[in-house]
Formats: sequence, C-alpha cells, structure tokens
Amino acid sequence: MATPATAIDKQSGTKPELPYAATIESSSPGVVPEATAPATMSATTIATMPATAQARTMDEGIYGFNKKLIDTVYDVICFLYPVKGNDRDFARFFVLETVARVPYFAYLSVMHLRETFGERYDKMSDRMRTHYAEADNELHHLLIMESLGGNSNIVDRTLAQTMAFFYYWYVIGIYTFNEPAAYHLSELIEDHAFDTYSKFTATYEDRLKNQPVPDVARKYYEVDNPFLFDLFCTVKDKTDTEAGTYSQRRPQLESLYDVFTNIRDDEKEHWKTLCNLVQYDDMNAVDASEIRSTTPAPAATAGALP
Ligand SMILES: [Fe+2]
Ligand SMILES: [Fe+2]
Repeated sequence: MATPATAIDKQSGTKPELPYAATIESSSPGVVPEATAPATMSATTIATMPATAQARTMDEGIYGFNKKLIDTVYDVICFLYPVKGNDRDFARFFVLETVARVPYFAYLSVMHLRETFGERYDKMSDRMRTHYAEADNELHHLLIMESLGGNSNIVDRTLAQTMAFFYYWYVIGIYTFNEPAAYHLSELIEDHAFDTYSKFTATYEDRLKNQPVPDVARKYYEVDNPFLFDLFCTVKDKTDTEAGTYSQRRPQLESLYDVFTNIRDDEKEHWKTLCNLVQYDDMNAVDASEIRSTTPAPAATAGALP
C-alpha cells in the first residue's frame, strides 16, 4: 500500500518521518558501501548518526566518467552561452533547465515501468512523488526562462531539445542498471546549477533588482498550493532547532533577483536529496549540515567520506 505523502505540516513546520525502514542495499554496481545499516534501523535513527559512518563512495571509474561527461557538457554550454549580463543569459539558462530536468522524469519512467511489472518496495512511492515534485519544480524554472525570452531563438530550442532527447535515453539506460550512478550524474548537474545561479545573482544583483517578477514565477512561488514545492525539500536542516526542520520557504518576490535566488536555492535542495540518494540510498538519511559531495574510491576499497 502506498505510503502517505510527506508534505510539511502547516502547524508544526515539520514533515512526517518516512515510514519505511532505511535499509542500505549492499551491492549496487559501482557503489562502495562503507557500512550497511541494519534493516530495522529507521530513517530517524540514521539521521542522528554521523555522515562518515554511513556514506558510500563511488567507484572511481564511474565517478570519473560521470564527472568528465557532465563537465564537458557544462563547458560546451558555457562556451556557447557565456554570461554577459544581457538577455542572452536567459537563453543559457533555458538550455540548462531543459537538460537538467530530464533525469527526474527519466527516473520516473523506469520506476513506473517497474511498477507495471510488479516491483514494489516501501520507499518507492515516496521517491516517485519526490521525483515528480522535482520535475515540476524544474518545469517552472524552465517556464520562467521562457517567459524571459530564453527560448525565442530556434537554434537555442533545437540545441536544448536535442540534448534533452538523447540525455533522456542515456539516463534511462543508466538508471535501469545502476541507480546510484544515475543519481550521481544529477548530483553533478545540480552542483553546477547552484554554482552558476550563485555567480549570476552575485554579479548582476543590481540589474536583476530593477527587473519585474514574471507572472509564472509569482504564481508558482507565491500563489500556488505549496504541496509539491514542499515535497521536493526532503532534507532537514538542524541548524534551526535540535530536531531539525524541513525547508519552509514561502518566497515573497519583489524583483527578478528574488526569483533567481529562489531558483538557486531550489537547485541546492535537489543536490542535497541526490547526495543522500547516492551515498545512503535514502532521501533524508543525513541533515543539511552533514551533506558532502560524493567522493570516488577504488572499487575494492571501502572508503569513508572525509
Ligand atoms: Fe532548475
Ligand atoms: Fe535542479
């Protein structure tokens, strides 16, 4: 039976703990387990444990290939779309957002097919809901870029959609046979996305603060029911309270600058969830302060994250 959705409780500001037992599967190809959590250990229990005791590293061959692939694609986009502080920047972000959202519905495609073939496990429904919420969030990033004219050139659209088409089938193949490797690809993309939006908002703060909020951004961040928005914020932040809380962002947008800072923060949420999935096979095993990027290790070596 499907588990209940994990939206934030409006009264307490907390999200119900996921009801599944947080097992860390031992033999995903390319992933080196540092330790295996007992099957009876709950997600809450794992969240209280130090990250270094549980984090898994990634086979250095797969890690290196993923990094080379994503860095190359990102460098090509940076070469073709250098940030210059003009409207062409929105074409760059249109291309990035078109490609960056592909993995989430690729994961969903594989999971739906597995469901059809009778595969069921406790955390499956929660994970599918979160991936849908992430895809919906990325869709709105894309709609914002389109509202800013990022898709006005047919060459940009053709490039972005061609890349998305082939990347979709690539992720389908990787996710089918090696879920951590597929999640690691996206971890690298989201890291780049956070970085590029951080630099953009820092460099062009004054210009962005003089530009209006697109209607689609105001609708998504301020008006729409935040159920799906909360659903992709899976990782607690323990800096606020001892128990930790999930993100409770309710953005108020005054300018385009606020829109881009929220997109930047969304990418950080995606990255946090993906780090948890790669290293713990769990969406919220460790809180925000303990998360580190996945590190490589020789396949035969059980290395802990630094
Ligand atoms: Fe995005
Ligand atoms: Fe993202």
